Amino acid sequence: MVHLVPAGRQPSGADYKFGDSDIAAQRLSTVAEVFAESSRSFLSRCVPGPVGLAVDLGCGPGHSTRLIAEEVRAERVVGLDRSVTFLARAEAGDGLPVAFRRHDVTTTPFPVAGPDLLYARLLLSHLRDTASVVGRWLGALAPNGRLLLDEVDSVESEHPVARDYQRVVEAMLRENGQRLDVGRVLGAMPDPPGTVSREDHVAEVRPTSRQVGRMFALNLRVWRGDPFLVEEFGTEWLDRLQQRLDMAASGKMELPVVWTMRQMVLVV
Ligand SMILES: C[S@@+](CC[C@H](N)C(=O)[O-])C[C@H]1O[C@@H](n2cnc3c(N)ncnc32)[C@H](O)[C@@H]1O
Repeated sequence: MVHLVPAGRQPSGADYKFGDSDIAAQRLSTVAEVFAESSRSFLSRCVPGPVGLAVDLGCGPGHSTRLIAEEVRAERVVGLDRSVTFLARAEAGDGLPVAFRRHDVTTTPFPVAGPDLLYARLLLSHLRDTASVVGRWLGALAPNGRLLLDEVDSVESEHPVARDYQRVVEAMLRENGQRLDVGRVLGAMPDPPGTVSREDHVAEVRPTSRQVGRMFALNLRVWRGDPFLVEEFGTEWLDRLQQRLDMAASGKMELPVVWTMRQMVLVV
């Protein structure tokens, strides 16, 4: 079956399929745990000096925003997200100098003036029209500002359960005109206008089987009733996949999966 994005459909975050329920927030806690180390080393390596305003695009419940506040010497860190529910969780923070605003990050201007640093982690897979969104973000930066992108380049596994799960995610994203391995798109993208320098690096992340099982099982729990997925894969098949992912989450099954993250810096 071929699923096309209608011509003229604008890039927008209205199609974020991973939800903002309690289950989605639990998944993002595990995501935060899994990707913390590689994101910390990316931020500290690529932003060694002090900055004025740093903005976390698609901040969710604030894990990545707090990471910026901890790793970068920023005067102010502001997280932007569309989800009121996630922003309410983010606000219940722990005393770090961070603030949060509701905003659709596919649109500029942002509700803060001239950021020196923009950071996006695990966001572009959920948006359409990568190059034009990135171009818009660069245009919102202060002079000499930098955009850091920390996005999925690949998710690899030989395990049949992981492969089945990947088919579901990929179908879901494709249906929305999005793709999981958006890092590949970034890697192949010519320098956007105004780019002064560009750094490109790929980092490997190897979560434990329990962490993989937990992230995948929680996602599938959010999606399993989705009419598109039910039509595409069938309820029984989805239920069986859910059971096997739950087994991995509870430590009863090995589920080795390796992520590579595209970590790109664009300076204007
Ligand atoms: C996978 S989560 C990543 C959260 C966070 N960056 C992290 O690494 O923990 C993606 C986030 O992007 C947000 N999002 C998706 N589309 C958006 C848009 N157009 N504008 C603002 N936020 C958006 C979702 O609400 C969600 O919180």
